Amino acid sequence: MATRASGSRNTTSSSDADRISSVLSEKRRFAPPAAFSAAAHVGSARALSALRAAASANVVAFWEEKARDLLWFRHWKKPLVWKHPHAQWFVGGTTNASVNCLDRHLGGWRRTKAALIWEGEMGEVRTLTYQQLHGQVCKAANALLKLGVQRGDVVAIYMGMVPETVIAMLACARIGATHNVIFGGFSSEAVRERINDSGAVVLITQDATVRRGSFVELKSAADAAVKKCPTIRHMVVLSRCGIHCTMKRGRDLWWHDVVDGASPINEPAQLDAEHPLFILYTSGSTGKPKGILHTTGGYLTQVAYTTRMVFDLQEDDVYFCTADVGWITGHSYVVYGPLMNGATVMIYEGVPNYPAPDRMWDIIERHAVSIFYTAPTAIRSFMKWGEEWPNRHDLSSLRLLGTVGEPINPEAWMWYHSVIGGGRCPIVDTWWQTETGAIMISPLPGATTTTPGTATKPLPGIEVDVVRKDGTPCKSNEGGLLVVKHPWPSMLRTIYGNDERYRAAYWSEFPKSRNHPGWYFTGDGARRDADGNIWIIGRVDDVVNVSGHRLGTAEIESALVSHPRVAEAAVVARPDEVKGNALVAFVTLKGSAKASTALSEELRAHVAKEIGPIAKPEEIRFAEALPKTRSGKIMRRLLRELVTSGTAKGDVTTLEDAGVLERLRMQEEE
Ligand code: PRX
Repeated sequence: MATRASGSRNTTSSSDADRISSVLSEKRRFAPPAAFSAAAHVGSARALSALRAAASANVVAFWEEKARDLLWFRHWKKPLVWKHPHAQWFVGGTTNASVNCLDRHLGGWRRTKAALIWEGEMGEVRTLTYQQLHGQVCKAANALLKLGVQRGDVVAIYMGMVPETVIAMLACARIGATHNVIFGGFSSEAVRERINDSGAVVLITQDATVRRGSFVELKSAADAAVKKCPTIRHMVVLSRCGIHCTMKRGRDLWWHDVVDGASPINEPAQLDAEHPLFILYTSGSTGKPKGILHTTGGYLTQVAYTTRMVFDLQEDDVYFCTADVGWITGHSYVVYGPLMNGATVMIYEGVPNYPAPDRMWDIIERHAVSIFYTAPTAIRSFMKWGEEWPNRHDLSSLRLLGTVGEPINPEAWMWYHSVIGGGRCPIVDTWWQTETGAIMISPLPGATTTTPGTATKPLPGIEVDVVRKDGTPCKSNEGGLLVVKHPWPSMLRTIYGNDERYRAAYWSEFPKSRNHPGWYFTGDGARRDADGNIWIIGRVDDVVNVSGHRLGTAEIESALVSHPRVAEAAVVARPDEVKGNALVAFVTLKGSAKASTALSEELRAHVAKEIGPIAKPEEIRFAEALPKTRSGKIMRRLLRELVTSGTAKGDVTTLEDAGVLERLRMQEEE
């Protein structure tokens, strides 16, 4: 039920935490529908407050109780060992992710329940019951074992959205291999970097993936990548599109040759709670992507719990999260969370507007999807395509909507609520990160009164705060830094192979000292309103959110300077109606190189080749020089101001050569 309508709020990011400000004007409130609350796991604000209070009184005991919902081979000895900044949860316990996702459902009627409903872009539909999925996972696990993959080995997975990707992940988990899923849209250079950093021994890929009606080859990109990957011993190739692939003898094997004939019986590995489940690369504020390491027991505990509570998962739901498995949302809320809860998971292979802009609504109608979880950038695209597309479909099966990945602007929220949700579905705006592994701040749909644009409050068992740079708490509506004060089960354990960077990236802003416990810094700016709701203002580091994907500007800059004509580059973001942010690259050229439209296109293509099309700058601006501090640091803040407002009036006292900025400003006016 809506109360009062009002304007918008500021969602732009700032590089300086102490300059964070945002405008509060959103007053609309939406209480959960009574019928929804009546059937929900948590059905009232009072019940949620009580849950939160009890959890905060003993965070560890709260999570310990949730861990009991998993299947364990051996019970843990200690629920938490916290040696700042390293947490170990459920120490001494042994478990297995694939057993929790599959075997546990085989004893009863869920055996024949649909686990995955896959729809290919060309319209094919495949349904795998829990029993069938289990059989496939066991076969793939046996195939990996036969290839010599051992417990603790890393297996890279470079695939599209097909059931075999999920099977491959769960097969790794079953034998204790650590998966490293690499988004299928990444270029061979990006794949190579991620394989080499993780030391993967096997790469699982597919001939090609289907996108907008055509084939995008993955095997050839994988071939180019592994040319310089000395650790790769085998490549397993799924024939998704039936196209010809060059197979290197002794190294490459077809999925159907090694998996189809393998035994469907596999004894799962009994793994330590802290056994590494996966590495997932994400962008940071330096050029090199960070290999975020997640382990088993704690990750599964929090992912299972949050899936059940945040999506209010019920036995007959058809759950559809549109994320690609190449991102953390795909790991936690396409694969592990829903399967641990015995849900029916809808997976779609292709783009949302093929063959027409109603593809999502068509899927929802045909498969009677009841829970839909997507990103604000997708919602803004749906809005742009027009409401005639959803209006052609019966969306009455939907009962809950979710968003993730970036702040949702109230206009998009309202559209989602009324056009897609028919005004009757609660919306859960979920805040979390690759590093947090699971949802941290979110409404519970049967209990929380929501306001467009805020993920509301931390979940029970999660202790977050908005603080000033000196660590003192912010007043209500004062912008500050978002921190997590108590270890949580699904937190990252380290950055793979670089613990120093782990400490520096997350634990140096509020370090542990004699009189401070040391807090995890999220990299986000936020404010808390008078009701205690948290509003994310944006990243305060050099990380930019483009179309819900997290990109490190440093990474793109280093891709640009790897081009022979580029001397220096600075990448900043400007607000974009659909993507949230669009990237603008300022580039200075080497010696005799001349700026031209052709070179601009060449540089954009170069970034696509080095990282992937998602990282392509929207615009390249050639500059004679970049504004720098006296110590030589590029002042990205000024460039950001320039592309956002057309001018740069901020503090320029540390600028080395004011003329540089003046020339850029004049260029802007031209
Ligand atoms: O800035 C926050 C934004 O996305 C960042 C995490 O990105 P990534 O690790 O790629 O994970 C995305 C999917 C979990 C956060 O630091 N973010 C994520 N969810 C929200 C959000 N910003 C505002 N509201 C959200 N609901």
